[in-house]
Amino acid sequence: MEFKVRDLSLADRGRAQIEWAERHMPVLVKLRSLYADRKPLEGVRISASLHVTKETAVLVRTLLAWGATVSLAPCNPLSTQDDVAAALVEEGVSVFAWRGMSGDEYMWAIRVVGLRDPDIVMDDGGDLHVMLHEELRDRAVRVWGGTEETTTGVIRLRALERAGRLLYPVVAVNNARTKYLFDNRYGTGQSTVDGILRATNILVAGKVAVVAGYGWVGRGIAMRLRGMGARVIVTEVDPIKALEAVMDGFEVMPMARAARLGDIFITATGNKDVIRAEHMLEMKDGAILANAGHFNVEVSVEDLERISVSKRVVRPYVEEYTLKNGKRLYLLAEGRLVNLVAAEGHPSEVMDMSFSNQALAVLYVKENRGKLERRVYDVPPGQDEMIARLKLETMGIEIDELTEEQRRYLESWKG
Ligand code: NAD
Ligand code: ADE
Repeated sequence: MEFKVRDLSLADRGRAQIEWAERHMPVLVKLRSLYADRKPLEGVRISASLHVTKETAVLVRTLLAWGATVSLAPCNPLSTQDDVAAALVEEGVSVFAWRGMSGDEYMWAIRVVGLRDPDIVMDDGGDLHVMLHEELRDRAVRVWGGTEETTTGVIRLRALERAGRLLYPVVAVNNARTKYLFDNRYGTGQSTVDGILRATNILVAGKVAVVAGYGWVGRGIAMRLRGMGARVIVTEVDPIKALEAVMDGFEVMPMARAARLGDIFITATGNKDVIRAEHMLEMKDGAILANAGHFNVEVSVEDLERISVSKRVVRPYVEEYTLKNGKRLYLLAEGRLVNLVAAEGHPSEVMDMSFSNQALAVLYVKENRGKLERRVYDVPPGQDEMIARLKLETMGIEIDELTEEQRRYLESWKG
């Protein structure tokens, strides 16, 4: 079996981590055992580009238990948990991932898993899907279908679909309500604060935090920072989201004004160049810059380099840039996803729902092989409700049921 990881001797530690995650992912574990006997993925080759974390390992273990063969690349060069990668190799997964890969090594790993003749392709961010569509078309035309974990990946796939260039159907796992309402909002909300605190150990209370983007991720971050006593400013380009932020009680203003006020800046837009040289030059000495969006393009690191005279690492994942104007700015995690680089990503409880959606989406692709069009699909009807019900059940929470009379009332035009 081919693989490339940092150090196989870390496997025992990785296994303990995976077991810890498994304790907190009861829905996925339940789904695993529900279908394990009939091995629904027997003989199916899956290539995946996902953050190599303990939670991803629980998903991969589920796919293995269902009979699949799995090849795994990371979806970010800095997010791999090396101990987990080692443990997965020992469990029979072809892993090509280690923390701190160069850009070239990262693209190499994506290519290697793309070349493994996948039947099903799982991705987080779209790099593997795009690689298959642009450079490995001979492999892409044989793919049955795929899944996509995050907003940015879905945006890229929809662009391929609009251009008439999508070569296989893809299930947009991100768009499941049991994904984005919890993962993007509460998962990123908590883990982004976790990443910033692990990197800097600063006191949040009393700081001015600027959150760029008030989508699901931005909302979660703004909410949690406010909960810890920060004064939160939101920047937006969408008037409806901006209005929502105002009515949620946040200050809203353009980045050009917020730049002068913030102590901590966090981007969560999925867009590029949200914080640029013109903003950086206005910032306070000591301002901290972090990103929670998928790619490292939201804070323009290129601009930061260009307007700086020097830089040095002052703590793990904290780089101090001294600008030509004498001020110092602190960039966290090289401008990459701060929650996965400086912390461990979302807590397992949240990934339980995201990855239950992934696992069921893979089954859906397999069961509908040849029947789906080359389109971006939502998760199948009923999947969200099933996952939410299972999650509530594992949390010991009961809810009411409609009476027959109530059901009829809600379906009727009569008062
Ligand atoms: P979303 O579409 O719900 O929200 C993005 C928001 O950013 C929108 O409201 C949009 O109007 C706003 N925006 C766009 N350009 C802007 C600009 N120049 N200035 C200010 N606001 C701008 O998307 P989302 O689900 O919140 O995801 C945001 C990003 O986070 C994506 O890249 C996504 O893939 C990523 N993501 C990261 C994690 C993580 O673990 N860090 C988890 C989930 C999603
Ligand atoms: N995305 C965000 N958090 C994650 C995690 N813990 N594992 C895998 N992907 C993630």
